[in-house]
Amino acid sequence: SWTAANIAEQLIEAVREQVGDGRAICGLSGGVDSAVAAALVQRAIGDRLTCVFVDHGLLRAGEREQVETDFAAAIGAPLITLDDADVFLGHLAGVTDPETKRKIIGREFIRSFERAVARALELQGDDAESVDFLVQGTLYPDVVESGGGSGTATIKSHHNVGGLPDDVEFTLVEPLRLLFKDEVRAVGRELGLPEAIVGRHPFPGPGLGIRIVGAVDKQRLDTLRAADAIAREEMTAAGLDSTVWQCPVVLLADVRSVGVQGDGRTYGHPIVLRPVSSEDAMTADWTRVPYETLALISNRITNEVPDVNRVVLDITSKPPGTIEWE
Ligand code: XMP
Repeated sequence: SWTAANIAEQLIEAVREQVGDGRAICGLSGGVDSAVAAALVQRAIGDRLTCVFVDHGLLRAGEREQVETDFAAAIGAPLITLDDADVFLGHLAGVTDPETKRKIIGREFIRSFERAVARALELQGDDAESVDFLVQGTLYPDVVESGGGSGTATIKSHHNVGGLPDDVEFTLVEPLRLLFKDEVRAVGRELGLPEAIVGRHPFPGPGLGIRIVGAVDKQRLDTLRAADAIAREEMTAAGLDSTVWQCPVVLLADVRSVGVQGDGRTYGHPIVLRPVSSEDAMTADWTRVPYETLALISNRITNEVPDVNRVVLDITSKPPGTIEWE
């Protein structure tokens, strides 16, 4: 019967069987899925697992600090952080096509993990020779949307599925590949992960890179990061975290509109709020966020974030929209 305890036990056993006495690294993204995958593998193979957090420069405010403290403690495995923002932003410079962005990010994650192996081996001690396994928190819907389900088209290449390069030498360990998000959360709770981790809203591995419509650069990332932090803060303060499945905040970097501030003309960019309600991210509806909360977010973003002079609300369900804009 389906209980989180049964499933967790079976998944741990399957990982033990797959990895044998091998060694693994697990990329942590700051999301629920990779945290639960890491915790399962840690329970299965203990200190033969090392976690890797890639700071690709596409993170939200506070994310790195949260992973380095709360996540590392809850999972119980050593953590290596890579400072790879320059690498990712260098490869993304000038790129506007969403699928191209996704493929670059998917490829560079793997290159970062390859660089992490030497450091993982040092941490693992004298007898460690190689790390053959890469743990990913891939879920069933990720596989389906990337075109991996039976007879389905590619909607978008999730960075860890369709976005993987052809020359990956790691053997993938994907314990959550048949699960939906609510099941993953239940397994995470069963493993003792705190609510601050299992209750987190989904956030895509490619991060803010796929929430800037247009080319990605540091200044645009700073703008989006500031707007996102305000939206998250106000939604949380309004008690909406359990009503809203997730709320992408998107910067339309190639769009400008005229505004007025003080007695001057502005010519800035719009920020899109995309609050959605969903069961499994396969379908979604736009969340009817109270007007007062929307007004507060709009006022704060236009006052506090330079270059943004307009806030718009996305009122499209999925389908026909998707949750992320790219
Ligand atoms: P869409 O935009 O396809 O998103 O409606 C469905 C869910 O998947 C998340 N998402 C991703 N997660 N890597 C991830 O880890 C990705 O490349 C990716 N693309 C979309 C999205 O945030 C939503 O929860």
